[in-house]
Amino acid sequence: MAQLGVNIDHVATVRQARRTFEPDPIWAAVEAQLGGADGVTFHLREDRRHINDRDAALLKETVHVKLNMEMAIDRRIVAIAGNLCPDQCTLVPERREELTTEGGLDVVRLRRRIAPVVENLRRRGIEISAFIEPIPDQVQAAADVGCHAVELWTGGYAHAKGEKAVCRALRQLSEALETGGRNGLLVHGGHGLTYDNIAPVAAMPFVEFNIGHSIISRAIFVGLRDAVRQMKALLLT
Ligand code: PXP
Repeated sequence: MAQLGVNIDHVATVRQARRTFEPDPIWAAVEAQLGGADGVTFHLREDRRHINDRDAALLKETVHVKLNMEMAIDRRIVAIAGNLCPDQCTLVPERREELTTEGGLDVVRLRRRIAPVVENLRRRGIEISAFIEPIPDQVQAAADVGCHAVELWTGGYAHAKGEKAVCRALRQLSEALETGGRNGLLVHGGHGLTYDNIAPVAAMPFVEFNIGHSIISRAIFVGLRDAVRQMKALLLT
């Protein structure tokens, strides 16, 4: 059964809508853990639009399951990650104008910039994952630069319309999973996964899913602890 990392960025987004103290993403991390989350995921963006440095420091102190930091390969963010030492860093592309992370990091094109970042963070004992599109060349490049894991962008599957497109997207994920396995990588998945679309990917040999928007949306109505429990139950079946 795949592990569940709960992305709590959206809780901080609501807080930042009023630049106040609530809702506190640290409380969300506690509730996620009480609901059975295997990990807590956050993205410290260069523009600090949701999670900020105070949140990152407190998460490091209070999260007792796997702490996964999504981050750009920007020099200042890499320095923060190196000091914070989360259990895992997931390297993601970042554009200021995007609503959320759109698509994967181009490891093939950026391998010269990514390799030293991976080496630097690995030296501190941090597991390194790269968020990439489910393309064998990208998986291979992530292995070449020394990543422990890749997180396959599941947005292509989540946004696919019609049976043919869905099947094609699942086939791509399956091939990328195979390439990852052959290269000794742990393979994670994330983006756009919901209570309604998780089943086909939950049946694949993913090690970890990172899910944010759907869980936080359900939490508004049932509470975060239950929302996490419900998603965990879907990973079991
Ligand atoms: N994984 C990564 C690398 C992401 O950037 C995001 C979005 O922040 C997620 C997973 C979660 O995506 P969603 O909010 O669509 O579940």
